[in-house]
Amino acid sequence: MGDYRILVLPGDGIGPEVTAEGVRALQTVGARFGHTFELSEDLVGGAAIDAHGTALRQETIDAARLADAVLWGAVGGPQWDDPRGSVRPEQAILGIRAALGLWANLRPVRVDAALVGNSTLRPEVLAGVDIVVIRELTSGVYFGKPQERRTIEGRREAVDTMYYNETEVARVAHLGFQLARGRRGRLASVDKANVLDTSRLWREVVMEIRPQYPDVTYENVLVDAMAMHLIRRPAAFDVVITENLFGDILTDEASMLAGSLGMLPSASLRAGAGEATGLGLYEPIHGSAPDIAGQGIANPIGMLRCVALLLRHSLGLEAEAAAVEAAVGATIESGLRTADIAASGERPVSTREMADAVLGRISG
Ligand SMILES: NC(=O)c1ccc[n+]([C@@H]2O[C@H](COP(=O)([O-])OP(=O)(O)OC[C@H]3O[C@@H](n4cnc5c(N)ncnc54)[C@H](O)[C@@H]3O)[C@@H](O)[C@H]2O)c1
Repeated sequence: MGDYRILVLPGDGIGPEVTAEGVRALQTVGARFGHTFELSEDLVGGAAIDAHGTALRQETIDAARLADAVLWGAVGGPQWDDPRGSVRPEQAILGIRAALGLWANLRPVRVDAALVGNSTLRPEVLAGVDIVVIRELTSGVYFGKPQERRTIEGRREAVDTMYYNETEVARVAHLGFQLARGRRGRLASVDKANVLDTSRLWREVVMEIRPQYPDVTYENVLVDAMAMHLIRRPAAFDVVITENLFGDILTDEASMLAGSLGMLPSASLRAGAGEATGLGLYEPIHGSAPDIAGQGIANPIGMLRCVALLLRHSLGLEAEAAAVEAAVGATIESGLRTADIAASGERPVSTREMADAVLGRISG
């Protein structure tokens, strides 16, 4: 029996549609396992720009700091897409990650056996794929300074700065080794050490930490090679650690192994694996999908899997997390499909129908 505070930030497009199902999943878990989830909600992204003139208000950050976990839908949409605009919906997600110090982004990528046919890859390549990518989230080229556009002698130029220090690298390395220990015991660290100084520091620090985890098999992989391996032999990887920009690209590539963006969750954390729980932000990997927003057809599974990660990583409720994941697995096995994962000729179900089927299978 526990009492937990969850801040719900639905955002834009399909964000509110899938987040509503995440909230129902939390309420179902609460009822079946005897927990109380105190839920509060706020606007972020385009919705917050329209209402308050900013994508992320200080009040929202303050509320997040007081919560046990944050559930995030998605932000963005064509109506806020002016590249010259000074306020953009995406500032909300970068801003909240930075404000909360969420330095690790975990993306588990598992291929559901029943959905192997959805991928563009051959079934034998996908058999046994079960990867967790840990992307460093609060440093690297997205945050390094200077980051600016300028005009020098009449010519436009721009500069971004890739920066890392050893503390930022070490905490990701420890998290990677510790997670690998609880899984299949393999860690791959991805860098570009043949070219970049930040990558040489990254590799050096990870190699210094490695002797503390003699039970974990370790390899360094160059990012360009990794882009290839993820398609040729994805089942060879267990836990993968990498810096912010490489992680952004590789996690989208890895997500396609699962067939649809709508299937996968992510967790942004600041607690190391050694610490049981900590404030985290949980969001499906997809965006606001303006092309299908408002139709009630978005796949809610990525969001429902976020709820499982939230229960596990921020609240330490492993049995409850496993119950949600088992309910998702059984629903996929039963053949229910939203439009994004339906084969041609299959009748797709709505967001609500898919979520109802999962919620009905969550047993305490
Ligand atoms: N963290 C975030 O909030 C986040 C992440 C990525 C993109 N975005 C924003 O989302 C907006 C749209 O971006 P995009 O179109 O490149 O990516 P997207 O993920 O929103 O959509 C890509 C494609 O996948 C489909 N799709 C995505 N989620 C789905 C789901 N749950 N069920 C069924 N189909 C789904 C969409 O219909 C679309 O065809 C942009 O403004 C972008 O900046 C936000």
